[in-house]
Amino acid sequence: MRRHHSTTPPPTCTPRTARTTRVTRVLGSLLLVTAAGAFAVGAAPAEQASAEQVSGGQARAAQPLSQVIPAPASVKAGGPAYRITSGTRIRVDGGREARRVGAYLADVLRPSTGYRLPVTTQGAAGIRLRLEKGPFGAEGYRLDSGAGGVTITAREPAGLFHGVQTLRQLLPAAVEKKSVQPGPWLVGGGTVQDSPRYAYRGAMLDVSRHFFTVDQVKRYIDELALYKINELHLHLSDDQGWRIAIDSWPRLATYGGSTQVGGGQGGYYTKADYKEIVRYAASRYLEVVPEIDMPSHTNAALASYADLNCDGVAPPLYTGTNVGFSSLCVGKEVTYDFVDDVIRELAAMTPGRYLHIGGDEAHSTSREDYVKFMDRVQPIVAKYGKTVIGWHQLTGATPAKGAIAQYWGLDSTGAAEKAQVAQAAQNGTGLILSPADRVYLDMKYTKDTPLGLAWAGYVEVQRSYDWDPGSYLPGAPASAVRGVEAPLWSETLSNSTQIDYMAFPRLPGAAELGWSPAATHDWNTYKVRLAAQAPRWDALGIGYYRSPQVPWTTD
Ligand code: ACM
Repeated sequence: MRRHHSTTPPPTCTPRTARTTRVTRVLGSLLLVTAAGAFAVGAAPAEQASAEQVSGGQARAAQPLSQVIPAPASVKAGGPAYRITSGTRIRVDGGREARRVGAYLADVLRPSTGYRLPVTTQGAAGIRLRLEKGPFGAEGYRLDSGAGGVTITAREPAGLFHGVQTLRQLLPAAVEKKSVQPGPWLVGGGTVQDSPRYAYRGAMLDVSRHFFTVDQVKRYIDELALYKINELHLHLSDDQGWRIAIDSWPRLATYGGSTQVGGGQGGYYTKADYKEIVRYAASRYLEVVPEIDMPSHTNAALASYADLNCDGVAPPLYTGTNVGFSSLCVGKEVTYDFVDDVIRELAAMTPGRYLHIGGDEAHSTSREDYVKFMDRVQPIVAKYGKTVIGWHQLTGATPAKGAIAQYWGLDSTGAAEKAQVAQAAQNGTGLILSPADRVYLDMKYTKDTPLGLAWAGYVEVQRSYDWDPGSYLPGAPASAVRGVEAPLWSETLSNSTQIDYMAFPRLPGAAELGWSPAATHDWNTYKVRLAAQAPRWDALGIGYYRSPQVPWTTD
């Protein structure tokens, strides 16, 4: 497996094999099928009946319960709608954290409705968030809506939060606007029962090739939360930039972080910045998975400290887009002092369970050295209380007990490479699926896409959505699959507008693959639900690619 990282578009959508250098990087009426069985929902008569005349005679229907993305496990639409008014109260039965979710909901509703809905712990209320013991799982919820109000019930605050995301989608798209809108604010009647297929539903942001500010990361977190993604993987180091302050090796950030692809200014997160990202992500029920890529993708570190190089000479900083040319010096003890210090400091500021150690594209590290390196480094991650995640090349070494391999191959990846990963999965290594020709969000949609790369081919919206994580990798047991992650590499991306354009509309599809029961998977109904999201993105200021595969309803 090679990544091609030239920014020149290839002539066709065929994955390229020719390399130029040694380092080449190379819903109308919807049929919603539930886990329990199929039944038709969608523009059912009951939902149409919840349309309401507003002054001027224009009817505004509540959003069909069946249009939610990711598709809930089960939807029963019917009965009268609930209308949020200035008199609505949000009552929370649960602890402090549940009240925080209530306050978050009030904040979401305030700008567009103009209502300052009080969050209370007693009395009658139109919207109720309740924690109770029940078969909801760690993230599941039930949403009941009728004329008297909307109740979201969950076992954990995370479930309430995901239920709130569903509630947002049941309101008119204008609810996402930042100025007061006319309403009415109707929630269609019915019941949604929901819990995720996979515990790991991730998105990766490459903050190394181009640096993104804390505010830009927060914006992406909010976009991820809309679709119930719960893991934010930050690619914090690479050849072009080291983006996290490490006190014991300060030049990593101050020098190694001083530039980026194309030679721009770069940047890095102070520990306070990183903690703020972690805090904000947690407030949206996302866990941060920090990645320090090694032993390759390390030029920024090697440039910062001559000692880390086998020949003791620091290379210059690098602002190009090749891959595979750098390697930590596997034979030097200082390498492991460095890795220990970095992992210790990173683990100390990361409350999450995982630490990603990269391990991809080590083309300048011998196989023997690679295995030796991973044998030394994985126990360091364990020593600091974290679980190893590595790109799937880790399965070419000996994955530690409990380690997770992140698969980023293509449909066309050779059988031997796939078999190696499948074998590791049979031996207990968990899998996160990020097939590059499906969910690499930086791949161009078509030859005309102005941003992105195309080494994995062009990835249109249907291709991105239409695969099954459970049966994707031949020979890998379905039980090994922890979930799906959509990486966004940033060789060609340097601002939020560009992030949005590559992520939308593919990101919601990756989120649905991770959340929704396999039985709901159907491109023909999905594309209608996807089209119905566009007014929300417009309201949120999210620019997106208007794929001709999707029946957009807006002009
Ligand atoms: C990768 O795309 N090199 C993980």
